[in-house]
Amino acid sequence: MMTTLPELARRMPKAELHLHLEGTLEPELMFALAARNGIALAWDSVEAVRQAYAFDDLQSFLDIYYAGASVLLTEQDFYDMTWAYLLRARAGNVLHAEMFFDPQTHTARGVAFATVVEGIGRAQDDAEAAWGMSSALIMCFLRHLSEDDAFATLELAMPHRRRIIGVGLDSSERGHPPEKFARVFARCRELGLRLVAHAGEEGPPAYIWSALDVLRVERIDHGVRCLEDAALVRHLAAQRIPLTVCPLSNIKLRVFPGMASHNLRRMLDADLAVTLNSDDPAYFGGYIEDNFAAAFEELPLDASHAYQLACNSFDAAFLPAEVKARFRAEVAVFFAGHMWPDRDHLICRTPEGIAS
Ligand code: ADE
Ligand code: ZN
Repeated sequence: MMTTLPELARRMPKAELHLHLEGTLEPELMFALAARNGIALAWDSVEAVRQAYAFDDLQSFLDIYYAGASVLLTEQDFYDMTWAYLLRARAGNVLHAEMFFDPQTHTARGVAFATVVEGIGRAQDDAEAAWGMSSALIMCFLRHLSEDDAFATLELAMPHRRRIIGVGLDSSERGHPPEKFARVFARCRELGLRLVAHAGEEGPPAYIWSALDVLRVERIDHGVRCLEDAALVRHLAAQRIPLTVCPLSNIKLRVFPGMASHNLRRMLDADLAVTLNSDDPAYFGGYIEDNFAAAFEELPLDASHAYQLACNSFDAAFLPAEVKARFRAEVAVFFAGHMWPDRDHLICRTPEGIAS
């Protein structure tokens, strides 16, 4: 059966590695939770909220995103938000999701860390029991706050260590370089947590270097500005450091003027270990499969790129090698099941070399 390339990319098995749970809060659920908790929102209706989603840059988005998160109070609220995302992820054929959450956004409002993490965790458990969904949780530190605040948050997380696979760094990038968090990331590394950081979204390539060299992160979230630094590109490609790129986010936050000018194809051509993700799907107009469809509609990408991106997503995941291999086999079966003109030429770069 023939299918279009955007449709193939939309439907193929994939992992999602850059997804903020608070960014999955759809306006309908935001209003339902506001009513349930007796919280007043700055907008009168779901339509008014959607109209407010016209952003100039990262900060203009973050202001609204933190306001939206104020409706989350109880464990059930965090459960409902996470469950809704996991159902959407399943619809996009996401076999494995590594999800960010921002505990400081909630603890600063008096919500207990346990309320947040147990609500999210219960939804993860239920999704695993219901359809075998594989997922993991990454705790992000807010970079506009101090490193001391991050240390205090790490302390709060310790009783819930089994629920948290790693730590990340998000929020306002400009003026808050990764090295501000050198000590807390070193401590997280000692604790055996996996490390990632947003870098090179709006910030310069120097922030990607310091995320790698100072924080010693294993993946870079976004990283699209790396192409401005040829030595950095060579390093990222040689080390196969994954970059979790989010095209619709980049357009909405005006990192690129439109999809046609996104540098995804150039990143792939530079042999970078790119993955595609949704970032904050409720705010940016689409879930992961919509990101794939939009990129494949507007950029010069072919089936081998789709195959490569699906393989990359599992290679870059914080999963045991045998589980990655099982998921990659599902990708191969999916592609083999579609009559695709150049399917014999599909290649997939692996950490060990090139496989066909
Ligand atoms: N928090 C949620 N989405 C984010 C993004 N795209 N960049 C930085 N911090 C974020
Ligand atoms: Zn992000």
